[in-house]
Formats: sequence, structure tokens, C-alpha cells
Amino acid sequence: MSQTYFITGAQGCIGSWIVKALADRGDAPVVFDRSEDARRLNAIMVPSALERVRFIVGDITDVTAVRSALERSGARRVIHLAGLQVPACKADPVAGAFVNVIGTLNVFESAKSAGVERVVYASSAAVFGGGEIETPVDESVATEPATHYGVFKRTNEGNARVYFLDHGLNSVGLRPLTVYGVNRDAGLTSDPTKAMKAAVLGVPFRIRFSGATDFQYVEDTAAAFLRCADGAPAGAMVFNLHGETVDVERIANVINQNTERELVSFGGPLIPIAPALDDAAIKRVIGDLPSTPLEVGVRETMRRFTELREAGRLDTSDIDSEISAVS
Ligand SMILES: NC(=O)c1ccc[n+]([C@@H]2O[C@H](COP(=O)([O-])OP(=O)(O)OC[C@H]3O[C@@H](n4cnc5c(N)ncnc54)[C@H](O)[C@@H]3O)[C@@H](O)[C@H]2O)c1
Repeated sequence: MSQTYFITGAQGCIGSWIVKALADRGDAPVVFDRSEDARRLNAIMVPSALERVRFIVGDITDVTAVRSALERSGARRVIHLAGLQVPACKADPVAGAFVNVIGTLNVFESAKSAGVERVVYASSAAVFGGGEIETPVDESVATEPATHYGVFKRTNEGNARVYFLDHGLNSVGLRPLTVYGVNRDAGLTSDPTKAMKAAVLGVPFRIRFSGATDFQYVEDTAAAFLRCADGAPAGAMVFNLHGETVDVERIANVINQNTERELVSFGGPLIPIAPALDDAAIKRVIGDLPSTPLEVGVRETMRRFTELREAGRLDTSDIDSEISAVS
């Protein structure tokens, strides 16, 4: 039977792929986002699939709006992704806390009132600070975030735990790191995807960080959220997600191998997040998850960008400065 899912922030990157997966399998996604801009959904979904999607424009900082939207949706499963990313939280920590912490509390309050089955929410690998940590970190490693964003995500994990203790509200927090693929156009670690887009357009691009990161293909990330929404056991769980731990140099090389000219370079500081996540816990509890090899994910992303470019539908607003530098 078709299920309804209430997804906050679903006009964004990860949300768009979750909505696509739900619509493709015949379920009913309800998108709750403060943005009405559906360009990411349009980039990856066919019109007939988009017809299955219901849109509610609203802000997670407004608890009344979230509560009434969730109740109206009739959803029993909530996927909470809405939030501000690292640069926005750094530029304005107060606004960051308002959206990422208070907004998340509003989603949990609304889920509690609506009596939903489970909330799956985006935490982040940014709860682990320090790019110098080389060995894979599991969930038992003490979190020491190096960004306000990471602190807010860690706070959300604590609040989720208390909602389970106080009200029996089930939840799963997932900690992705560098998600890549079509629609990854914002945030500290979005440069590799921007580089893929630039390369497809024949435009040089410099990835502005160096060192290793945990690189995760967006369809795999979306699948992990759905697997948890559909079948996690009762409790308040938090899991790392893991893709492939790779050096930025290798990412640049793989992109360059897919183009005629070497267009992608890199350089800059390390990402202030542990680069290797141990995902044994989620595999133990939820089961095996899809894991797309780096070469395959990069090729598929560049293929999709090429297809969009040829159809005149490639959104290039995220790499405007690189494009204008060559024109
Ligand atoms: N992309 C990654 O690599 C990554 C890694 C770790 C964690 N995360 C987390 O996963 C979640 C989704 O990431 P993404 O890359 O899809 O982000 P994104 O920036 O592409 O999308 C975020 C969405 O949230 C919406 N939003 C922001 N503030 C809102 C508000 N106050 N009310 C309602 N909607 C609001 C935006 O309009 C946008 O559509 C975020 O919480 C992010 O912190 C992402």
C-alpha cells in the first residue's frame, strides 16, 4: 500500500533524490520547504512522477506551520532535512541555531503531537571535528565538532534522544559527509560536484580544499534515509554513513579522466571533519546499503549533467563565477 512521507527541506539536494525514489516506487511524498523553487526536483524527475508530489511552502522555525502541515499530510513517517549548511551557520550562528536547532525541535514537537511512527533526520559527520583523524571513526568516538553547524547537529542528536526517553518518539539521525551528485550545489563540500558540472561545460574549476574526505553518492544517501524511515527498530538511534574515503586529488583525477582536457585542480585547507566514517553500526541494524563506487558515481553524475546541458536545462548558477572567468 502506498505510504505518505513528510519531508522537510525536500527542495534541496538530498531531499530531491528521496522524493524521486519515493515517487518512482509509487509512494506519496509531501515536500515541506520554505523555498518554492523546484528546479532540483525538475532536474531529476519526469513530469508524471512529479504529479505524485504534494508541496507545502513553510518554514520550520514556525511550529504552527509545521504542525498543521504535518497533520494535514496524514504522514506517519517524517524525514527532516531542512537546515542551513556550514558556511551559513558560520556567517550567522544565531540564524543557524534558529533554523537548525529550534527548527528541528519544532519538527520533533509536531511529530510528537501527530503521533508519527518515526522521524529520520539529517545529522552530519561534522559532529566529528578534525581533518587530521585518519582512522575510521565509529559512533562510540567522542564528538568534538569544529564548526557551529556540527555543534547544532550534535545538539539535535541529544534532543532526539530525549524525545524518545520522554515521549517514546522513535528517531534515526544519519551522519553523511561529502555527498555528491546532481543537485549538490551548496555547502562546504559541494565543490567536487561543481567541478563535475564545470568539466561538462569545458570550464576550469579549482576544488577549494585538500586532503581526504568520505565521499558519498547522493542516491546511496537517499536510499539510506528511506531504509531507516521504513524499517528502523524502536529507539533513538544515530548512525554514521560511509561511502569511500578518498583524497581530493583522486576525485579531481577521476573527473579529469572523463573529459578531454584536464580542467579540474584542487588546493586549500583540510575539511574540519574526520574523513573516514565507520558504518558497521547501520549495516548491523538496518542491513546492507547501496554503495556506488567513486568512478561509477562520477561518471553517472557527469552523464546526467551532459544530458541536462544538451536539453538546455542545466542550472549553472552555482558556478557562475567560473563560467564568467572564461567568457
Ligand atoms: N549534502 C551533504 O553533503 C550533507 C552532509 C551532511 C549533512 N547534511 C545535511 O543533510 C540535510 C540536507 O542537505 P542538502 O545538501 O540536501 O541541503 P540543501 O541546502 O541542498 O537543502 C536544504 C533545504 O532546506 C530548505 N530550508 C532551509 N531552511 C529552511 C527553513 N527554515 N524551513 C524550511 N525549509 C528550509 C532549503 O530551502 C533547501 O531546500 C541538511 O540538514 C544538511 O545539513 C548534508
